[in-house]
Amino acid sequence: MQHIKQYVDENRQRLLDELFELLRFPSVSADPKYKPDVLKTADYVAKKLRDAGADKVEVCQTAGYPIVYGEKIIDPSKPTVLVYGHYDVQPPDPLELWKTPPFEPTVRDGKIYARGACDDKGQFYMHVKAFELMMQTNTLPCNIKFMIEGEEEVGSSNLAIFVKANKERLKADVVLISDTSMISMEHPSLETGLRGLSYLEVEVTGPNRDLHSGVYGGAVANPATILAKMIASLHDENNHIAIPGFYNDVVDLTPAERTALNNAPYNEAEYKNDLDVQELWGEKGYTTFERTGTRPTLEVNGIWGGYIGEGAKTVLPSKASAKISMRLVPNQTSEKITEIFTKHFLSIAPASVKVKVTPHHGGEPAVTPTDSVAYRAAQKAIAESFGKDPIPTRGGGSIPIVALFEAELGLKTVLMGFGLDSDALHSPNEKYDIFNYYKGIETIPLFHKYFAELSK
Ligand code: BES
Ligand code: MN
Ligand code: MN
Repeated sequence: MQHIKQYVDENRQRLLDELFELLRFPSVSADPKYKPDVLKTADYVAKKLRDAGADKVEVCQTAGYPIVYGEKIIDPSKPTVLVYGHYDVQPPDPLELWKTPPFEPTVRDGKIYARGACDDKGQFYMHVKAFELMMQTNTLPCNIKFMIEGEEEVGSSNLAIFVKANKERLKADVVLISDTSMISMEHPSLETGLRGLSYLEVEVTGPNRDLHSGVYGGAVANPATILAKMIASLHDENNHIAIPGFYNDVVDLTPAERTALNNAPYNEAEYKNDLDVQELWGEKGYTTFERTGTRPTLEVNGIWGGYIGEGAKTVLPSKASAKISMRLVPNQTSEKITEIFTKHFLSIAPASVKVKVTPHHGGEPAVTPTDSVAYRAAQKAIAESFGKDPIPTRGGGSIPIVALFEAELGLKTVLMGFGLDSDALHSPNEKYDIFNYYKGIETIPLFHKYFAELSK
């Protein structure tokens, strides 16, 4: 595809400069102090969609952050692709661990370091630029709609309302998302499933005030110790989750599915080396791919209580808390799992403490078809631009809107991500390879081309 390469070559620096401009907005949705910046980011995205040639561009207000919409309908009889992405990012903390500031994108060794570089600004912006390319070279082969939201990292609750209220506007034949990972650039892959999520906060309260740990310690239950014990009891010695009923709805993969999944290339030494761990950990009887892609998990995301300032303070804390998330697999539902967890957690609390469980957001798991026209279009696009067929994999992360698109709009999704798990999403020094950015811009027009052709 000569015109694609040529367009990218001729616009190489500008394509990068624009992404840098987008990355400079600290669009952290979780923290209200960034509100003006998040709003400015939505306006910037709208402007860029308009500049690229989209019609009916609108910054749609919601009860939370706006959703940016835009479309190009070239012919109502042609198929329509709905592109979804998110312009919000995770908080950058802990700041002191960043080698360069999170909102000053910096290139080192061919990689762009910035919060959101991969998740998801670098990835959704490839679609805006690929759209521009198709407009400028007169090669847009199908209709395209964009829906870029600002609350993905906090659960997309207003997007769900928007989708329900805008079924006509969002009518499409498939959803295309770049917000997932590939195995590596040498082993391009397509994710064919995402896990669901149940997220909650627990609080253990002991005495009515912080106590002198010498005067009262030993006679009064310490909420931090009790919480630690309760959390530790949630996994058994095989690292199975020890909550009664937790696995009831899990559908096991067939032996053939397991074999296929485990055929993907995996280098354990490299995996451990990247994370600097001596040994991996996980549910007995399952491989790393299975543990992260097809099995439900329970993780502590944060745990605190008592004195955590400088030096020592001898105190027996009144309270201790933790944020806990569970990743869910097909057939589990976040509502049911949240209920099962809550009931169990309250039941294991000793009488010496009070326990409160507060649910946060949830999301449902999703699997995407591998026998659809859209999946084949993605396969062909990747095969052509990478020179290799993509390997189907299961993603460990969650994009709750995928299950909702199917439930509300009857739409299936193609997850054509260009990130890498090692891009440090949600971590300090998040990065995205410049190579991947251009590769995405080159591959996306091929998807549209093959989707239009194969839909005929
Ligand atoms: N893009 C990620 C999800 C992801 C990453 C899927 C890598 C597959 C591979 C997304 O932005 C994300 O972080 N989602 C959250 C869920 C949300 C409800 C907070 C997650 O997975 O924790
Ligand atoms: Mn994302
Ligand atoms: Mn994310």
